Amino acid sequence: MVKKVGVAILGLGVVGGGTYQTLVKHREFYKQTQNVDVTVESVLVRSGKRVKELGIPEELVAKTIEEVVANPAVDIVVETIGGCGVAKEYILAALNEGKSVVTANKELICKYSHELERVAKRNSCGLYYEASCVGGVPIIRTLLDGVQANRITEMMGIINGTTNYILTKMTQEGAEYDEVLKEAQRLGYAEADPTADVEGHDATYKLSILASMAFHTKVPYTKIFREGISEVGRKDIQFGKELGYTLKLLAIAKNTEKGIEVRVHPTFVRDRHPLAAVNDSYNAVFLRGDAVGDVMLYGRGAGAFPTASAVVSDVIFAATHADVKYSTFKNTANADPNVNFISDFESAYYIRLFVDDKAGTLTKITGIFARYGISIVVVDQKGRADPTATGDAARVPLVVITHKTRENSIKKAVAKINETDLAIVRSVIRVEDQ
Ligand code: NDP
Ligand code: HSE
Repeated sequence: MVKKVGVAILGLGVVGGGTYQTLVKHREFYKQTQNVDVTVESVLVRSGKRVKELGIPEELVAKTIEEVVANPAVDIVVETIGGCGVAKEYILAALNEGKSVVTANKELICKYSHELERVAKRNSCGLYYEASCVGGVPIIRTLLDGVQANRITEMMGIINGTTNYILTKMTQEGAEYDEVLKEAQRLGYAEADPTADVEGHDATYKLSILASMAFHTKVPYTKIFREGISEVGRKDIQFGKELGYTLKLLAIAKNTEKGIEVRVHPTFVRDRHPLAAVNDSYNAVFLRGDAVGDVMLYGRGAGAFPTASAVVSDVIFAATHADVKYSTFKNTANADPNVNFISDFESAYYIRLFVDDKAGTLTKITGIFARYGISIVVVDQKGRADPTATGDAARVPLVVITHKTRENSIKKAVAKINETDLAIVRSVIRVEDQ
């Protein structure tokens, strides 16, 4: 017999709207393939515009969250509002009424999953959040159900669609940062406040969730080194290109004997690296497990229907697995005090300087790098200054790529170079696979 399951959707924006449309479009298909008849029984909106646009019957529009959770036809509540304000309040109201919850809210899961999960368990409800990380890519399910045989030692990937879209357009078309950001917003990729995307917060929330699951210990977002793409210049993208590198916002997590290393920052990868070919709003994540070796997941990381794919898959899972709860990893408010988080990590570096174009400058600069034990792979001076020029006109860009070294060594060398009157460091970008 086909099981009837009622859903409420809170928030009908990009993801909520895509979720509604997917559920309506595939109702018959889910009946046939999953043996469930999933119907939308209630929606909660702030403004009615989207209700009309989506052709939702007026009688499904609830006035309050109390009305939604008191509705006996609603079994599962989908939260697609975002943020940690009413979204949290509404999810708690649903769980406390014994309704399972599906959410796409990475910030909320990152910051409060311990609390939400406790309430879900107390009320024997499911709490599902596949859509919170990497859009339509089933990374949460993979970590929970697909690679749990392994000790995961490493995870690296592109986990924000907006910044990947921006960097792709800047790299391939020389597009202006502000223009492409607007386009990413129009396409529904960006967060309500896109600062979350471009400054790396969104990727940090996702990495906190994923690393906590992968390493079976809480990795708070506050422990993650974070740098966004807002300061990245087209010059760096161009110079990197000339040296065979592509710029990506990478999220990196390593679980080593010395501790856990977690970071989100713009990174140059070799053009031949598989992540260099991940473009537009596509995302990709590499996992390294001790039994399986490397696994790579790839797909759309943002947008209405890719994200609805993850939300609706969770709805179907919740509808068909009444006794299976999602939350099987160690979920605490804070990090285990016995876990060491490594801040002085190792990386190779791209450094762009603006230097006096005169004899002896290079020797002095390389001398400073040598003093901090930093070995250099490439030194590439861009152009020549007029020998009679003075001031900035007597200076030229100089790009240095280092071998692997420590973050703190680079910081000290950069500070020392900036103290000289020969050069100024304009940018420092980490390099993977140099
Ligand atoms: P949108 O801004 O498009 O949608 C949010 C919706 O919530 C808006 O329609 C807004 O209404 C509505 N809303 C706000 N406050 C309330 C309220 N008090 N009651 C009812 N509705 C309310 O955001 P997205 O759909 O892009 O994102 C939603 C969530 O999904 C976020 O957590 C985001 O991080 C996550 N996510 C987004 C992805 C994407 O590609 N966009 C991908 C993966 C996850 P109004 O229209 O009136 O402002
Ligand atoms: N703003 C997010 C992104 C949505 O661009 O990746 C998907 O989580």
